[in-house]
Amino acid sequence: MTTSSTEFKGYDQAQYWVAPARNFRSSARLHLQHFLVQNTLGYLLEPAVEKSLAGSQKLIVADLACGNGVWLTELHSRLAKNNTVAQLDGFDINPVNFPDPAFLPAGVTLKMIDILAESIPAELKGIYDVVHIRAFDSVIRNAEALKPVLTVASELLKPGGFLHAISTVLKGALRAQGIQKDWVDVLDTHLAAFGFRNTRLLVHEKRKQDFKGWTEDYLMVWEEVAALFPPKATSPDAPMTRETWIDLFAKGVKETEQGVVVHQGRIMTAIGQKPL
Ligand SMILES: C[S@@+](CC[C@H](N)C(=O)[O-])C[C@H]1O[C@@H](n2cnc3c(N)ncnc32)[C@H](O)[C@@H]1O
Repeated sequence: MTTSSTEFKGYDQAQYWVAPARNFRSSARLHLQHFLVQNTLGYLLEPAVEKSLAGSQKLIVADLACGNGVWLTELHSRLAKNNTVAQLDGFDINPVNFPDPAFLPAGVTLKMIDILAESIPAELKGIYDVVHIRAFDSVIRNAEALKPVLTVASELLKPGGFLHAISTVLKGALRAQGIQKDWVDVLDTHLAAFGFRNTRLLVHEKRKQDFKGWTEDYLMVWEEVAALFPPKATSPDAPMTRETWIDLFAKGVKETEQGVVVHQGRIMTAIGQKPL
């Protein structure tokens, strides 16, 4: 089992993404996850959103917590096929997985921004036709913690622009730490309560033939999160020690070799429009 040499303080889920040892492994996993998500959804931009943007002179799209930028670079290919000119901006707290700018398509720019801590540069406010955010659920502890994310999205969007949020979370995970993911099932109502208009939630069942790929994707995360749990020697009373996790993980892997799969069954897309 691979464990990071990085010791994390406590159980802060956000720390997982800023640990230096994540790099190529995390990026490879995000590439795999991207294509599994695409197998499930069949779209990069939800078709009704894409249709209502068709004919725009120039599309301006932001991807919050963009990881390695794969969603943006694939969107670039899709838009280029339709001769749509686009400015595609990705923001992430950790630039280590960004491709070198030399390998990014023209129009795609990736910037290091902590979307929860930093104020958005004035020149980016109110300019985006679409703000996309995908697989950020793990960083949002509960419905209350959703508000800062919606605030940033709303600041970036122009009036009438679309928030396009995709959840891939395993809802049962991390309950012992007080982390609640029930908001994922009713994200459209949270968007409406925040002030977004025309909110809707689309539920997409995963394909059975992708279950093995999803299982591998989650096992890679679970293998790495061992470093989030304290060793027994320093925290014998911790609800989960690193040693217990490593033991459970090994048993879990064995079960997957006997046919058990790990996946969350479905992926949700939540859409909302910033009021005009
Ligand atoms: C599960 S990955 C998803 C990446 C990408 N959205 C995708 O679907 O391929 C979560 C991403 O959130 C980023 N992240 C975590 N906290 C962040 C923050 N406060 N501001 C910006 N990005 C953040 C991580 O660095 C990581 O790239």
